[in-house]
Amino acid sequence: MDPNKNIVLIGFMGTGKSTVGKRLAKSLDWKFVDTDVAIEELTGLSVVELFRLHGETRFRSEEALLVQRLSEQRGCVFATGGGTVLNSENWAFLAQHGVLVQLYATVETILERVGARPNTRPLLKGSRERIEALWQARQEIYARADMIVDTTDKDVDEVAGEILSRLEGQEDGSRELAKD
Ligand code: S3P
Repeated sequence: MDPNKNIVLIGFMGTGKSTVGKRLAKSLDWKFVDTDVAIEELTGLSVVELFRLHGETRFRSEEALLVQRLSEQRGCVFATGGGTVLNSENWAFLAQHGVLVQLYATVETILERVGARPNTRPLLKGSRERIEALWQARQEIYARADMIVDTTDKDVDEVAGEILSRLEGQEDGSRELAKD
């Protein structure tokens, strides 16, 4: 993997960005940054507290400031929050030196995965219909990623392995099939 690039994991909550990101960073011996964790460290508040005390707008501005700073780095794996790349400026910053990889999962799979810990995600608190609507509304943007990896029925090693072999294949000169 080109150490002058970053791997940026994007996608809906519960698609495994943080777990897969840590695994990728370990395999590559690259630095790993989880944007939610970095925001928590910077503000001294958990994401839940930040939303509750200051609202989503404040969370999004902390997120945008962080993304701008992170985008200057190289040789890192970033696990973004599910809403990070909905902001086109954030997308542009991350894409400057980053390959954007979307981790895909259906709503069904996501709800199964996060079932045990929905309270750490303020935007997953609503009804199933609301979550489905949010998932649906975001698909078009996530689909603009450089690479989409379907995580259904795959464990962390399989997802990380697939990302690495596809990225290495691209560097070897073979191109991914063009997206529609
Ligand atoms: C959000 C996703 C969360 C976190 C925040 C908002 C979103 O991150 O950034 O609760 O808008 O989808 P994860 O995708 O890591 O759960």
